[in-house]
Amino acid sequence: MWRYTMITRRCFMSTSSRAVGWWDHVGVAPKDPINGVTEAFLVDCSPNKINLGVGAYRDDEGKPVVLQCVREAEAKIAGSEFLESISSAVSSKFVEESVKLVYGKDSDVVNEGRFSGIQALSGTGACRLFAEFQRRFYPKSRIYFPHPTWSNHHNIWRDAQIPESTFHYYHPNSKGLNFAALMSDNAPDGSFFLLHPCAHNPTGVDPTEEQWREISCQFKAKNHFPFFDMAYQGLASGDLDSDAQAIIFLEDGHLIGCAQSFAKNMGLYGHRVGCLSVLCNDAKQAVAIKSQLQHIARAMYGGPPIHGALLVSTILSDLDKKALWVKEVKTMASRIQKMRGSLRACLEELGSFVNWEHITNQVGLFCFSGLTADQVDRLATEFHIYMTRDGRMSMAGVTTGNVSYLANSIHEVTVFGQEAKSPRRRIGI
Ligand SMILES: Cc1ncc(COP(=O)(O)O)c(C=O)c1O
Repeated sequence: MWRYTMITRRCFMSTSSRAVGWWDHVGVAPKDPINGVTEAFLVDCSPNKINLGVGAYRDDEGKPVVLQCVREAEAKIAGSEFLESISSAVSSKFVEESVKLVYGKDSDVVNEGRFSGIQALSGTGACRLFAEFQRRFYPKSRIYFPHPTWSNHHNIWRDAQIPESTFHYYHPNSKGLNFAALMSDNAPDGSFFLLHPCAHNPTGVDPTEEQWREISCQFKAKNHFPFFDMAYQGLASGDLDSDAQAIIFLEDGHLIGCAQSFAKNMGLYGHRVGCLSVLCNDAKQAVAIKSQLQHIARAMYGGPPIHGALLVSTILSDLDKKALWVKEVKTMASRIQKMRGSLRACLEELGSFVNWEHITNQVGLFCFSGLTADQVDRLATEFHIYMTRDGRMSMAGVTTGNVSYLANSIHEVTVFGQEAKSPRRRIGI
């Protein structure tokens, strides 16, 4: 007995000391450029601090919002999900309502059952599922991203082992769309393209309807596959249908893919509720594709959570709640547009020689300010204002209370070299 214990203990000790080596080669992962901004903001004790990093809606007090339509849906469904033994019925209803938002409720593709849709873990999860699907059925393909794009797109397709390329999108001089360069990009026929249908992240620059038509035409001629990442429907123009105008691709007979997120436009970030849909040639193909998407999801995370999907489908399938949501989306978009106007007006009032027109020309949550990495660093260290180093500002973080402080601070860091022309002024904070 004594001998047995000693041997066991010696064995345990040597195993435990060897086990330390299992993870010795693992270093710290690179910081996420977006999450890093919030971390820096949180440890700053200044009362003036402003977080322009977070890509979620905030009210004019800088606070997260629970929409009234969500509160009403919560009240209606209270307890009901516990009656469901499986979530597939909830998921199907959710998918049906979600795709109507993108394709239009009377669209043929909806009525003919030509789309295959699956509930996903918010927009990120929908992109990840599609990337995996792409790898499985087009293992030699690439993905073309606009330059620049949401930083996580690179991670998502990289982890699915799909190589990436970029296509021209943003013009740093005009701070608008580089349409001519975009149209003359040369990807091999039959390539996969990721497009932001509205409120492009990070630039806030969207093609016009006419430009979308031309892009669609070119894609058709080159047989490209358009994958739309719809993370901000409603938050660009305030109107859900206008923000889905890129879907005119359907008129040219494209088969498309679409990732939808309800994180921002319904304020359901924490519920991770999204939808991936793939438009197919016919209902039979849609059944096959859906089964493949479910197969991929099953191995990745089983199934999606039920509560957020139940909230969304309750809102979208009830006329009054949907009308309330439409109104609330408009209110969110209008507040952001108003803050764009105020920030530009404040900067112009300060006599800035920088052209700030793009603040109001760009749309959606983000303004691609044109501030350099050094200027962004100065805003953080001297003025307690945080944004990503590419100069992307989340306009949701701008409020009536902080807009003049923000304008004064931006003016301070951009005024260098202009002082001979313009005496330094300040406006009331
Ligand atoms: C373009 C784009 N796609 C997808 C997402 C992911 O959204 P979600 O929070 O729903 O995963 C974001 C969020 O920042 C985004 O900007």
